[in-house]
Amino acid sequence: NSNIPVITIDGPTASGKGTVAHRVAERLGFHLLDSGALYRLTALQALRRQTPLNDEHALAKLAEHLHIGFTGEAIFLSSENVTDAIRAEEVGNTASKIAALPAVRQALFGLQLGFRKAPGLVADGRDMGTVIFPNAQLKVFLTASVEARAERRYKQLIGKGISANMDDLLMDLKARDDRDTHRAIAPLVPAEGAHVLDTSDMTVELAVEQVMNWYAAFGK
Ligand code: CDP
Ligand code: CDP
Repeated sequence: NSNIPVITIDGPTASGKGTVAHRVAERLGFHLLDSGALYRLTALQALRRQTPLNDEHALAKLAEHLHIGFTGEAIFLSSENVTDAIRAEEVGNTASKIAALPAVRQALFGLQLGFRKAPGLVADGRDMGTVIFPNAQLKVFLTASVEARAERRYKQLIGKGISANMDDLLMDLKARDDRDTHRAIAPLVPAEGAHVLDTSDMTVELAVEQVMNWYAAFGK
């Protein structure tokens, strides 16, 4: 199914991947793969079941047997709506730890390929362009300064009525960047041929326009 178009959007946390991917998918009428949600769902299960984070085999089993459902904006684990639960910082941090385990990544591999369905897919994550869809029609690497990203997360949390501390957020973000960039398997790097877009001083709308323009130019 490599004829079905895929746009990959990879980048560090809070670079705007999710927001931009969502809008681009909407504009093109494409399916959406939020691959980070799969790692977050696995992390949520592990936290709830108190699975030791060094038990690679048990964690891969959890990933393999996830009963997930995506309906519109909501994400379900079995019949429970976990849309908000998986966004907790603790879940994100745990996700980035278990994402360094090869067996966990392997367990989620086939599931991700299955999202490539007509008329097309927008996939966001860390390794969409490098590992999962290396033959994607368009690859984008979104980035932004660590300060701009911490500011965005801060506003997101405050907006949801969750208290946040800028210094803690900066520290968490840097730790997560470090883990995602330096792990041995599927590290966060721009894919070969990726368009790099620094959104530090860019609105969401402009970032979406840029991706749409790149996609329109593809195939001409
Ligand atoms: O998915 P990822 O963690 O990369 O980021 P996100 O959740 O899509 O974006 C984090 C926040 O930054 C959201 O509230 C976006 O609206 C905001 N954002 C922004 O202010 N300017 C941008 N150019 C991109 C995102
Ligand atoms: O929204 P944010 O960028 O903070 O995180 P996310 O995209 O929801 O992903 C959570 C964690 O899962 C990341 O910190 C990565 O370590 C991991 N992840 C990954 O390894 N590969 C992906 N394709 C997506 C996420």
